[in-house]
Amino acid sequence: MTQLAQDAHVIVTGGSSGIGAAVVDLLLARGISVTVFDLQESTREGVVTEIVDVRDEAAVKAATERAGTRGQVTGLVASHGIRGAFVPALEMDLEALRRQFDIHVVGTLVVSRAVVRRLEGARGSIVLLSSTAAYGGWANQSDYGPAKAAERKLMENLAIEWAPLGVRVNAVAPGHTLTPMVEDMRQQGYDLSTVEQRTPRGQLAQPREIAESIVWLLAEATHVIGQCLPVDGGWTAVGK
Ligand SMILES: NC(=O)c1ccc[n+]([C@@H]2O[C@H](COP(=O)([O-])OP(=O)(O)OC[C@H]3O[C@@H](n4cnc5c(N)ncnc54)[C@H](O)[C@@H]3O)[C@@H](O)[C@H]2O)c1
Repeated sequence: MTQLAQDAHVIVTGGSSGIGAAVVDLLLARGISVTVFDLQESTREGVVTEIVDVRDEAAVKAATERAGTRGQVTGLVASHGIRGAFVPALEMDLEALRRQFDIHVVGTLVVSRAVVRRLEGARGSIVLLSSTAAYGGWANQSDYGPAKAAERKLMENLAIEWAPLGVRVNAVAPGHTLTPMVEDMRQQGYDLSTVEQRTPRGQLAQPREIAESIVWLLAEATHVIGQCLPVDGGWTAVGK
C-alpha cells in the first residue's frame, strides 16, 4: 500500500548530492515529481532545483509556494547537512558549533513548518535525517553529533504535534554512507577502515541503501510515527 500517488510531488532538501540525490532517483523511478531545495543545482533530468539555504525562512516559504504550483506537495525529505570538524571539544570553534545547530536543527524546522500545511489532508509524510552519531558517545564529534541528536528529538516532537493533522514525521539514522560528505572526511584523514571493521556487516552503506529506507518511511509505513530508524549495517546493535 503506497501513500504516494503518481501525481505526488515531493520536496527533497539536500537533493543535489549523496543520500538526497539517491532519494530523488528512487522517487523519479516511481514516476513521482520532485523539487530539490539545495545550495547547488541538481543534475537529475526533470527535477527543478530551488537554490535556497534552508536557514532562510522567507526564501524557503517562497520556494515551497513555487513547488506547490508544480503539483500537490505530499512529502518532504530533509537531507541537507554538513559534516563536523572532527576536533576535540576543547578546541572547538563555537561559531562552527552554532552553524551545525543552525543547519541541522533550525533549518530542518524551517523547511518542515513551511511544508506541513501543504501535507495536511494529503496524508502527507516527512522524513528527517539523523545519524548514528546521535547514539552513544563519540570523541571529536561534539558539534555534529549533538546537532543530529537534536534533529532526532525535533522529529519526535513534530511527530506528536502533527499526527493530528494527518502528517507522519519520522527519521532515518544512517551509519557511514559513501557520499561526497564522507569522501570529504576521508580526504581529511578520517580512517574509514576502522568504521568498516566495527560494522557487523563489514562495509559502509551505499546512498541507495539509505534512500530505500527513507522512501519506505515516506510512502509505505502508514502506522509508523515518531520513529528514528537506524540504517547502519548493525552499528548501533553492537554492545560492548
Ligand atoms: N553520509 C553519511 O555517512 C551520513 C551519515 C549519517 C547522517 N547523514 C546525514 O544525511 C544527510 C545527507 O548527507 P550526505 O552524506 O548525503 O551529504 P552530502 O554532502 O552529499 O549532501 C548534502 C547536501 O546538502 C546541501 N546543503 C548543505 N547545507 C545546506 C543548506 N544550508 N541549505 C540547503 N542545502 C544545504 C549540500 O549542498 C549538499 O547538496 C545529512 O543530514 C547528513 O548529516 C549522512
